[in-house]
Amino acid sequence: MVEKSLWTQQVEKNPEHSHWYIQRFRDMAAAGQDLHGEARFVDAMVPRGSRILDAGCGPGRLGGELARRGHAVVGVDVDPVLIEAAKADHPGATWLVQDLAELDLATAGVTEPFDVIVSAGNVMTFLAPSTRRLVLGNLAGALADGGRLVAGFGAGRGYSAEDFFADTRTAGLALDVALATWDLRPWEPDSDFLVAVLRRA
Ligand SMILES: C[S@@+](CC[C@H](N)C(=O)[O-])C[C@H]1O[C@@H](n2cnc3c(N)ncnc32)[C@H](O)[C@@H]1O
Repeated sequence: MVEKSLWTQQVEKNPEHSHWYIQRFRDMAAAGQDLHGEARFVDAMVPRGSRILDAGCGPGRLGGELARRGHAVVGVDVDPVLIEAAKADHPGATWLVQDLAELDLATAGVTEPFDVIVSAGNVMTFLAPSTRRLVLGNLAGALADGGRLVAGFGAGRGYSAEDFFADTRTAGLALDVALATWDLRPWEPDSDFLVAVLRRA
Protein backbone atom coordinates (compact mmCIF):
# COMPACT_ATOMS: atom_id res chain seq x y z
CA MET A 1 0.00 0.00 0.00
CA VAL A 2 1.42 3.40 -0.95
CA GLU A 3 0.68 6.86 0.41
CA LYS A 4 -2.45 8.28 -1.22
CA SER A 5 -2.05 10.79 -4.03
CA LEU A 6 -2.58 14.40 -2.95
CA TRP A 7 -5.34 14.53 -5.56
CA THR A 8 -7.14 11.61 -3.88
CA GLN A 9 -6.77 13.29 -0.49
CA GLN A 10 -8.30 16.47 -1.96
CA VAL A 11 -11.22 14.52 -3.49
CA GLU A 12 -11.85 12.73 -0.20
CA LYS A 13 -12.23 16.12 1.47
CA ASN A 14 -14.43 17.46 -1.35
CA PRO A 15 -16.05 14.72 -3.48
CA GLU A 16 -17.39 17.38 -5.87
CA HIS A 17 -13.86 18.34 -6.89
CA SER A 18 -13.59 15.76 -9.68
CA HIS A 19 -16.96 16.75 -11.16
CA TRP A 20 -15.97 20.43 -11.00
CA TYR A 21 -12.71 19.65 -12.81
CA ILE A 22 -14.47 17.69 -15.56
CA GLN A 23 -17.04 20.43 -16.13
CA ARG A 24 -14.39 23.13 -16.16
CA PHE A 25 -12.61 21.53 -19.09
CA ARG A 26 -15.86 20.63 -20.89
CA ASP A 27 -16.89 24.29 -20.63
CA MET A 28 -13.52 25.50 -21.96
CA ALA A 29 -13.75 23.05 -24.87
CA ALA A 30 -17.33 24.15 -25.62
CA ALA A 31 -16.16 27.78 -25.58
CA GLY A 32 -13.63 26.93 -28.29
CA GLN A 33 -10.53 27.46 -26.15
CA ASP A 34 -7.27 25.95 -27.33
CA LEU A 35 -6.65 23.04 -24.95
CA HIS A 36 -4.15 21.17 -27.13
CA GLY A 37 -0.77 22.85 -26.69
CA GLU A 38 0.63 19.81 -24.89
CA ALA A 39 -0.78 17.44 -27.53
CA ARG A 40 0.90 19.41 -30.34
CA PHE A 41 4.20 19.26 -28.44
CA VAL A 42 4.01 15.49 -27.94
CA ASP A 43 2.71 14.88 -31.46
CA ALA A 44 5.81 16.62 -32.86
CA MET A 45 8.11 14.19 -30.98
CA VAL A 46 6.98 10.93 -32.53
CA PRO A 47 6.20 9.18 -35.82
CA ARG A 48 2.56 8.66 -36.79
CA GLY A 49 0.81 5.84 -34.97
CA SER A 50 3.10 5.87 -31.91
CA ARG A 51 2.36 4.36 -28.53
CA ILE A 52 1.70 7.04 -25.94
CA LEU A 53 0.93 6.77 -22.23
CA ASP A 54 -0.91 9.73 -20.68
CA ALA A 55 0.17 9.34 -17.05
CA GLY A 56 -2.29 11.08 -14.74
CA CYS A 57 -4.62 11.64 -17.69
CA GLY A 58 -7.55 13.14 -15.78
CA PRO A 59 -10.63 13.41 -18.03
CA GLY A 60 -8.53 12.70 -21.12
CA ARG A 61 -8.03 16.13 -22.67
CA LEU A 62 -4.47 15.37 -23.84
CA GLY A 63 -4.62 11.63 -24.50
CA GLY A 64 -7.93 12.05 -26.32
CA GLU A 65 -6.42 14.58 -28.72
CA LEU A 66 -3.36 12.37 -29.31
CA ALA A 67 -5.68 9.46 -30.11
CA ARG A 68 -7.55 11.68 -32.61
CA ARG A 69 -4.15 12.40 -34.17
CA GLY A 70 -3.75 8.67 -34.83
CA HIS A 71 -1.63 7.50 -31.91
CA ALA A 72 -2.32 4.41 -29.79
CA VAL A 73 -3.04 6.00 -26.42
CA VAL A 74 -3.38 4.53 -22.97
CA GLY A 75 -4.42 6.90 -20.19
CA VAL A 76 -3.99 6.07 -16.51
CA ASP A 77 -5.42 8.00 -13.59
CA VAL A 78 -6.10 7.24 -9.95
CA ASP A 79 -9.47 9.06 -9.96
CA PRO A 80 -12.29 6.77 -11.24
CA VAL A 81 -14.66 9.71 -11.79
CA LEU A 82 -12.18 11.35 -14.16
CA ILE A 83 -11.61 8.07 -16.00
CA GLU A 84 -15.37 7.66 -16.53
CA ALA A 85 -15.41 11.14 -18.12
CA ALA A 86 -12.40 10.25 -20.31
CA LYS A 87 -14.21 7.12 -21.53
CA ALA A 88 -17.35 9.12 -22.30
CA ASP A 89 -15.62 12.06 -24.04
CA HIS A 90 -12.70 10.32 -25.77
CA PRO A 91 -13.64 6.77 -26.80
CA GLY A 92 -10.62 6.42 -29.12
CA ALA A 93 -8.15 5.61 -26.34
CA THR A 94 -7.79 3.04 -23.54
CA TRP A 95 -8.49 4.49 -20.08
CA LEU A 96 -7.45 2.76 -16.86
CA VAL A 97 -7.91 3.48 -13.18
CA GLN A 98 -4.56 2.88 -11.49
CA ASP A 99 -2.24 4.64 -9.09
CA LEU A 100 0.99 5.46 -10.95
CA ALA A 101 2.86 4.45 -7.80
CA GLU A 102 1.49 0.92 -8.27
CA LEU A 103 1.44 0.91 -12.05
CA ASP A 104 0.64 -2.55 -13.39
CA LEU A 105 -0.22 -2.25 -17.05
CA ALA A 106 0.28 -5.94 -17.78
CA THR A 107 -2.64 -6.87 -15.53
CA ALA A 108 -4.79 -4.57 -17.64
CA GLY A 109 -3.56 -6.33 -20.80
CA VAL A 110 -1.16 -3.56 -21.83
CA THR A 111 2.17 -5.25 -22.46
CA GLU A 112 3.92 -3.10 -25.10
CA PRO A 113 6.18 -0.24 -23.94
CA PHE A 114 5.63 3.40 -24.91
CA ASP A 115 7.38 5.77 -27.33
CA VAL A 116 6.35 8.73 -25.20
CA ILE A 117 4.93 8.98 -21.71
CA VAL A 118 3.46 12.37 -20.96
CA SER A 119 2.47 13.70 -17.59
CA ALA A 120 0.95 17.14 -18.02
CA GLY A 121 -1.20 19.45 -15.92
CA ASN A 122 0.81 19.36 -12.69
CA VAL A 123 0.42 15.61 -12.14
CA MET A 124 3.92 15.50 -10.59
CA THR A 125 2.88 17.97 -7.90
CA PHE A 126 -0.18 15.88 -6.98
CA LEU A 127 1.86 12.73 -6.30
CA ALA A 128 2.27 11.89 -2.64
CA PRO A 129 5.86 13.02 -1.99
CA SER A 130 6.83 9.56 -0.71
CA THR A 131 5.84 8.05 -4.08
CA ARG A 132 7.59 10.44 -6.45
CA ARG A 133 10.66 8.28 -7.09
CA LEU A 134 8.50 5.17 -7.29
CA VAL A 135 6.29 6.78 -9.94
CA LEU A 136 9.26 8.07 -11.95
CA GLY A 137 10.82 4.60 -11.80
CA ASN A 138 7.56 2.99 -12.95
CA LEU A 139 7.31 5.42 -15.85
CA ALA A 140 10.96 4.86 -16.81
CA GLY A 141 10.24 1.13 -16.83
CA ALA A 142 7.31 1.56 -19.23
CA LEU A 143 9.40 3.34 -21.88
CA ALA A 144 10.38 1.62 -25.12
CA ASP A 145 14.03 1.71 -26.19
CA GLY A 146 14.63 5.31 -27.23
CA GLY A 147 11.34 6.36 -25.64
CA ARG A 148 10.96 9.61 -23.75
CA LEU A 149 9.11 10.92 -20.72
CA VAL A 150 7.66 14.44 -20.81
CA ALA A 151 6.55 16.03 -17.55
CA GLY A 152 5.11 19.52 -17.18
CA PHE A 153 4.35 21.22 -13.87
CA GLY A 154 4.35 24.60 -12.17
CA ALA A 155 6.83 26.04 -9.70
CA GLY A 156 5.62 26.92 -6.19
CA ARG A 157 3.48 23.78 -5.90
CA GLY A 158 5.66 21.89 -3.44
CA TYR A 159 7.94 20.02 -5.85
CA SER A 160 11.00 22.06 -6.81
CA ALA A 161 12.68 21.53 -10.15
CA GLU A 162 15.88 20.74 -8.27
CA ASP A 163 14.20 17.94 -6.30
CA PHE A 164 12.50 16.69 -9.46
CA PHE A 165 15.79 16.53 -11.37
CA ALA A 166 17.39 14.64 -8.44
CA ASP A 167 14.46 12.19 -8.30
CA THR A 168 14.60 11.57 -12.06
CA ARG A 169 18.30 10.74 -11.80
CA THR A 170 17.57 8.29 -8.97
CA ALA A 171 14.86 6.74 -11.14
CA GLY A 172 17.38 6.12 -13.92
CA LEU A 173 16.32 9.00 -16.17
CA ALA A 174 18.51 11.57 -17.90
CA LEU A 175 17.36 15.07 -18.84
CA ASP A 176 17.38 15.79 -22.59
CA VAL A 177 15.65 19.19 -22.65
CA ALA A 178 14.25 21.61 -20.09
CA LEU A 179 11.71 24.17 -21.29
CA ALA A 180 9.59 26.74 -19.49
CA THR A 181 6.50 26.41 -21.68
CA TRP A 182 4.81 23.97 -24.04
CA ASP A 183 5.60 26.41 -26.86
CA LEU A 184 9.32 25.84 -26.40
CA ARG A 185 10.63 28.79 -24.42
CA PRO A 186 13.85 27.91 -22.61
CA TRP A 187 13.76 26.97 -18.91
CA GLU A 188 15.74 29.00 -16.34
CA PRO A 189 16.03 28.16 -12.63
CA ASP A 190 13.57 30.99 -11.84
CA SER A 191 10.99 29.95 -14.47
CA ASP A 192 7.48 29.48 -13.13
CA PHE A 193 6.88 26.28 -15.13
CA LEU A 194 8.97 23.32 -16.23
CA VAL A 195 8.51 21.05 -19.22
CA ALA A 196 11.17 18.33 -18.91
CA VAL A 197 11.94 15.82 -21.63
CA LEU A 198 13.80 12.80 -20.25
CA ARG A 199 15.08 9.45 -21.48
CA ARG A 200 16.36 6.33 -19.76
CA ALA A 201 19.96 6.95 -18.72
C1 LIG B 1 -4.64 18.69 -12.48
S1 LIG B 1 -5.05 17.07 -12.99
C2 LIG B 1 -4.35 17.01 -14.63
C3 LIG B 1 -5.07 16.02 -15.52
C4 LIG B 1 -4.52 15.91 -16.95
N1 LIG B 1 -3.15 15.45 -16.97
C5 LIG B 1 -4.63 17.22 -17.69
O1 LIG B 1 -3.61 17.83 -17.97
O2 LIG B 1 -5.76 17.61 -18.02
C6 LIG B 1 -3.91 16.06 -12.04
C7 LIG B 1 -4.20 14.59 -12.24
O3 LIG B 1 -3.17 13.81 -11.67
C8 LIG B 1 -3.77 12.60 -11.25
N2 LIG B 1 -2.91 11.91 -10.29
C9 LIG B 1 -2.32 12.44 -9.21
N3 LIG B 1 -1.62 11.50 -8.54
C10 LIG B 1 -1.78 10.34 -9.23
C11 LIG B 1 -1.30 9.02 -9.05
N4 LIG B 1 -0.53 8.71 -8.01
N5 LIG B 1 -1.65 8.08 -9.94
C12 LIG B 1 -2.46 8.40 -11.01
N6 LIG B 1 -2.94 9.65 -11.23
C13 LIG B 1 -2.60 10.60 -10.35
C14 LIG B 1 -5.06 13.09 -10.61
O4 LIG B 1 -5.97 12.05 -10.39
C15 LIG B 1 -5.50 14.14 -11.62
O5 LIG B 1 -6.31 13.61 -12.62
